[in-house]
Amino acid sequence: MGVDIDQAFVQDPQHRPGLSITQAHGIPLIDLSPVTTTNPCPSSMDALVKEIGSACKEWGFFQVINHGVSISLRENLQEASKKFFAQSLEDKKKVSRDETSPSGYYDTEHTKNVRDWKEVFDFLTKDPTLVPLTSHESDDRLVQWTNKSPHYPPGFRDIIKEYIEEMEKLARKLMEVIAMSLGLEAKRFEEFFKEQTSFIRLNHYPPCPYPHLALGVGRHKDPGSLTILAQDDVGGLEVKLKHKTDQEWVRVEPTPNAYIINVGDIMQVWSNDAYESVEHRVMVNSEKERFSIPYFLFPAHDTEVKPLEELTNENNPPKYRPYKWGKFLIHRKDSNFQKQNVENIQIHHFKIA
Ligand code: OGA
Ligand code: NI
Repeated sequence: MGVDIDQAFVQDPQHRPGLSITQAHGIPLIDLSPVTTTNPCPSSMDALVKEIGSACKEWGFFQVINHGVSISLRENLQEASKKFFAQSLEDKKKVSRDETSPSGYYDTEHTKNVRDWKEVFDFLTKDPTLVPLTSHESDDRLVQWTNKSPHYPPGFRDIIKEYIEEMEKLARKLMEVIAMSLGLEAKRFEEFFKEQTSFIRLNHYPPCPYPHLALGVGRHKDPGSLTILAQDDVGGLEVKLKHKTDQEWVRVEPTPNAYIINVGDIMQVWSNDAYESVEHRVMVNSEKERFSIPYFLFPAHDTEVKPLEELTNENNPPKYRPYKWGKFLIHRKDSNFQKQNVENIQIHHFKIA
């Protein structure tokens, strides 16, 4: 990432970030105590379900506190991530993603065909993870993806695995509350995650001399069910406002130890558009590097994603044709790592006109 900017990083003028940050009220901050303490009173649980339901509807994004995840574990992972990325490129490339499995290190992701100003380390929550070999509908062959084993920093894999367990617990609780907020059984979503394709990503956004031209991650929607993001105190995540005002993007100011939650495309389809997946992006800055750790909750590869029957009826017919999650995932994997001239696969391709 030298002094002359590589054109691959340059965003089209309409997608470049505004450098003066406008601050709206910000996304809702929600206290998860009712699901993380023993014996909560029933009325606080009802209130939480309503709060999360309206955050999903109005924003698609919210932050949570009192989430039950160990702060020291999160700090350990953040430290380990810093040490990992501080290594030489040559050392990091020893655990590069490869043809047989996309988990590991890489610095060449393209979002909407523009290169992101970042480097990442991906780690699957299930090792091995079963996925289709190709995105072709008629190809039934499956393959196993596995994780890489970095030797540095010491204990890296164990810290990641311990943190994943915490993410799984939090994700389960959030999915239960979200189910209830849609009027479903708390455990309605559980079946989709018995096997799963979820993964955790360590992001490093180095300082960028061209914050007005490039983005850490270009505008995008998360394709899965739910994302749980830990950001550090630098800031840079911006969320697109659903309701038009005089501003388009709002900065998610770091709240110490909070998690940022957003619903992904699959939740949009399951809820038949009640809970829309919202566009977001990451601005970089010229002085500070930034670290973040998203956990992407993805269902099993053979999940047929479609609007839930309980949430559709004559007056609200299904708005999407079913699609196979594993095929969608492979499509995305094939397109995210090289610049292409066409849009990659999106849920609107399955929209019923
Ligand atoms: C992502 C993402 C936000 C961040 O990786 O999908 O939106 O703050 N990351 O790093
Ligand atoms: Ni995202």
